[in-house]
Amino acid sequence: MLEQVIHFVKQELAHEGSGHDWWHAYRVWKLSEQLQHAEGGNKTIISVAALTHDIADPKLNDGNQEKGLNRLSTFLKGLPLNQDDREHLLQIAATLSYKGAGVVTPMATREGEIVQDADRLDAIGAIGIARTFAFGGHHNRLIYDPNHSPESHTSYETYKNSTGHTINHFYEKLLLLKDRMNTDTAKAMARERHHFMEQFLNEFYAEWEGKK
Ligand code: ADP
Ligand code: NI
Repeated sequence: MLEQVIHFVKQELAHEGSGHDWWHAYRVWKLSEQLQHAEGGNKTIISVAALTHDIADPKLNDGNQEKGLNRLSTFLKGLPLNQDDREHLLQIAATLSYKGAGVVTPMATREGEIVQDADRLDAIGAIGIARTFAFGGHHNRLIYDPNHSPESHTSYETYKNSTGHTINHFYEKLLLLKDRMNTDTAKAMARERHHFMEQFLNEFYAEWEGKK
């Protein structure tokens, strides 16, 4: 079954240029397997949820999550899963995303917590830095503007519609993720990735002012 899922996700995300491509799905899958090994949870649900987690993302569905969930639901109907599993997978896809500094996004099941952690680990560290600038470039954003401070978004609407420079995204999301991991295993992994981002930012500001 996983082969079928991999084939579908590769096809759907092949031409995605904002950091949500097949290789992001692949990394989230591998991280999820690692977290499952330490934390438990249903392996099949975790693998399928990890691979398909971005299929319903509003950003990849003209801003329409309903449309994305229908697309995912149609695909899941062709897999050898029972109705409960299908609903569980759709629920994970619908609730996983980060929605702003002031918005809580709890997951209802262990499987969901693991996939959310894996998705968030892939948003930080060296890979996270690369993805963030890929997203910024894709959306024609400045890399940095010292006159424009980060915001603490209290609603998904304001977070989603913000068009700030890419360095702001570190303060509006990436540096906040370490303390929002669900599992102990992900918390430990996040610490190292977080530290690397702090080092990157120190270097970035020093070079910005020509101090290096
Ligand atoms: P989630 O995976 O929680 O749904 P997103 O899909 O919104 O989160 O974000 C995934 C990644 O896309 C972020 O971690 C970041 O690398 C990039 N990204 C999203 N929004 C922005 C933004 N406004 N500026 C820069 N990068 C962004
Ligand atoms: Ni993702």
